Amino acid sequence: MTLLAIESSCDETSVAVVRRGRILCNLVASQVDLHAEYGGVVPELATRAHLKNLPLLVREALNQAAVEAGELEAIAATRGPGLPSALMVGYRAGEAMAFTLGVPFIGVHHHLAHLYSPWIEGKPLQSVLGQFEANVSLVVSGGHTLLVHMADVDHYRVLGSTIDDAAGECFDKVAKLIGLPYPGGPELDRLAAEGHPQAYAFPRPLLHDAGFDFSFSGLKTSIRYWLRDHPEILEDGHKLRDLCASAQAAMVEVLVAKTARAAKAFGVRCLTASGGVSRNRGLRQALLHVARGSGWHLRLAHETICTDNAGMVGILAEHQLLRGMSRTGWDEEVLPGWSIEQPGFDFSDDLHR
Ligand code: KG4
Ligand code: ZN
Repeated sequence: MTLLAIESSCDETSVAVVRRGRILCNLVASQVDLHAEYGGVVPELATRAHLKNLPLLVREALNQAAVEAGELEAIAATRGPGLPSALMVGYRAGEAMAFTLGVPFIGVHHHLAHLYSPWIEGKPLQSVLGQFEANVSLVVSGGHTLLVHMADVDHYRVLGSTIDDAAGECFDKVAKLIGLPYPGGPELDRLAAEGHPQAYAFPRPLLHDAGFDFSFSGLKTSIRYWLRDHPEILEDGHKLRDLCASAQAAMVEVLVAKTARAAKAFGVRCLTASGGVSRNRGLRQALLHVARGSGWHLRLAHETICTDNAGMVGILAEHQLLRGMSRTGWDEEVLPGWSIEQPGFDFSDDLHR
């Protein structure tokens, strides 16, 4: 199947062409510069940028993939969750293309696209999923922090999520306190690599809590007060790097400890991680360390598809269509608050194995 996918749930406009589990082309127009001066995503600006970028990206993606519009057998677009007006741009454009071409249209759940992204290997997803192992999956992004138990390919259960800020939000807010440009996560990661993670002891919220939920706003607040009392740190390059490393270590320790505890609780031998924050080198190393120590397999989303992109949307859409999931109707709407626990569909049992 050759499929075109669109992602526009937040501040990245992305268009991909995928075929049999392979991402032929995955273009992302980042809006980082546009939102940087506001220190966060401005929905109206994001929507206008999606409207401007999308037609160009569709044409360029088809060109780069050497695929004619007439060869497309389906169109997919992120349906939710996300910013309502931003979602509408990609969703309605995809729907209009599918209607015009007379091919199925499928609205994809953004978090599910992240959840499956560690399984993307450039070959038919069905064959990769043939080696599926029950796992505990960490989906960490700017807008979401989820710990998921995937018992089987199409059966998953959310074990925990954040009760306040998402992991990426915490990275970005801490980076902002330090004076790093938006979005600060990647820059904090870079500075942390040159600092000492045990230099300063910051709290590890909910680390010893029996549940699987996360909380990050207290950590951010404690770093804010700490900086108020130690303003000189910001003037010292070494100490600043130590601060980044220590803040990152606090976030990573909680994320990894909960993931490992969930793996033990559910008896799985495989961990996966995805979403923008899964690009973080400290997190990747810590997951590798814990997986090695316990003899578990580790599947990390490839670095090129951790942050929001249409490739992961297209690959999941292809999987869902091949599994017999019905196409999305023409009269459906975007779902800005779509919960991953109520995806609104079920894979039928006869198609399940
Ligand atoms: O998945 P994504 O592109 O968007 C959402 O769905 O939210 O994730 C973006 C988030 C931002 O908060 C960004 O700072 C964070 O991922 N991020 C990182 C790194 N790269 C991206 N956080 C920490 N370390 C990184 N290397
Ligand atoms: Zn995302």
